[in-house]
Amino acid sequence: MSETSTFNKTIDESRQGEAIVAETIVTPNGKKLFLESYGCAMNFSDSEVVASILIGEGYTTTLDELEADIILINTCSIRDNAELRVRKRLTNFKNRKKRQPSLIVGVLGCMAERLKKELLEEEKLVDIVAGPDSYRELPNLIIEVEGGQKAVNVLLSRDETYADISPVRLDKKGVTSFVSITRGCDNMCSFCVVPFTRGRERSRDPETIYKECEELFKNGYREITLLGQNVDSYRWNMTSKGEIKDESKPTTNFAELMKMVAKVSPDLRIRFSTSHPKDMSDEVLEVIASHDNICNYIHLPVQSGNTEVLKRMNRGYSREWYLNRIEAIRRIIPNCAITTDIITGFCDETEEEHRDTISLLKEVGWSFAFMYKYSERPKTLAERRYEDNVPEEVKAKRLTEIIDLQRATGHFIKQGQIGEIHKVLVEGTSKKSEDFMDGRNDHNTKVVFPKGDFGKCDYVMVKITDCTTATLIGEVVEILSPIKSD
Ligand code: 5AD
Ligand code: SF4
Repeated sequence: MSETSTFNKTIDESRQGEAIVAETIVTPNGKKLFLESYGCAMNFSDSEVVASILIGEGYTTTLDELEADIILINTCSIRDNAELRVRKRLTNFKNRKKRQPSLIVGVLGCMAERLKKELLEEEKLVDIVAGPDSYRELPNLIIEVEGGQKAVNVLLSRDETYADISPVRLDKKGVTSFVSITRGCDNMCSFCVVPFTRGRERSRDPETIYKECEELFKNGYREITLLGQNVDSYRWNMTSKGEIKDESKPTTNFAELMKMVAKVSPDLRIRFSTSHPKDMSDEVLEVIASHDNICNYIHLPVQSGNTEVLKRMNRGYSREWYLNRIEAIRRIIPNCAITTDIITGFCDETEEEHRDTISLLKEVGWSFAFMYKYSERPKTLAERRYEDNVPEEVKAKRLTEIIDLQRATGHFIKQGQIGEIHKVLVEGTSKKSEDFMDGRNDHNTKVVFPKGDFGKCDYVMVKITDCTTATLIGEVVEILSPIKSD
């Protein structure tokens, strides 16, 4: 369904299914932790915080679940099938737990927050239920379990950002990394469970964000993605109404934060996700346009092309407003890739309303889209207010129609890029062939090219010679010498 099934840093808070497992990071001196993440980039980023907390307690991480003393699953609730996948995964540990009763199994993240104690009743093998704001408590929760109890902590916080915790990088490549800048969401889109599972929106201290990016660059990373449910509402020392909280201290908005982070090095590429159409300002677009190392790439979820559906979704903008933002992007950043998220079959969606999404797809020409069937989530505004009344087969038919059209659009855009020369950050050997390497261009499109006298973390100029629906293919015409860190 999405190209994000591998750990490729294209962000989608709903990315589901593919597990990234912690590898051994320090010499074992205690118990072994096996950590698996499902869902969005934020979850992957949180797992790095969890690993850091437990390594600090003497745990070591392992890629082999069979040697683990503790198994933690960081979960996603965004759609029903995301939860089903986790439940299925949990059944894998049942026999293991019979053989090794001391094994601790913990469920973290959105499912933990949504289901709370219920999860202990429904999934008997689970010992720990820990919501996204309670990871600092994990060592205590483990002690409770070792003492023979089950342990639950699902308290949501108004100010936890884990800003002081230096995440342990769990991804092997060491080229690109996520950096969280906000947590939670205040938007209350009617279909979305995130405000309930991740709580109120809060921004992280900009100094700690800068330091984390600087550290990553020193350690060889060449791309960071600033992460938040709605990055445009990042604000430090400001209320949501824009009032200054502490007059003696500077304020920082998202545009200013990006300017700050872009200064770490011209060779550190900056991406960000997710932008919200109602909040994305021209100031942000101007900062992107004026910085070579901020990628010309914006993920701008539209959800629907019909204003009435958008109203029911409580998105806070109309079709016209969305188009106005697209116009602003094209005017301020002429060569900018735009991607989106679309939901089909939302409550009461008529065929005509669906046609509006199709027509918007044709009008905007997104280079990529994550497309989903609406999945009703308990306690959301939509569940309380509307009926999930578009039949499953209609949802599926509309989804297929959108996927087919979007695929053709994406392919058409790529075909138009044949002959161009793109700057690519090399990420490693291509999964398809040992003789090829791959990386991403400014637009976040994967580019594949034959191996040469360059390695991962180098920037190369690639002449595009061919494409598939999802990938550009080319040959390196120039190797740009990267500034060495230190
Ligand atoms: N059903 C289907 N898709 C959803 N999304 C969020 N909630 C739901 C839901 N209940 C999608 C939206 C969002 C993306 C992360 O997941 O498109 O932008
Ligand atoms: Fe969910 Fe809307 Fe917040 Fe995104 S902006 S996390 S879709 S409530």
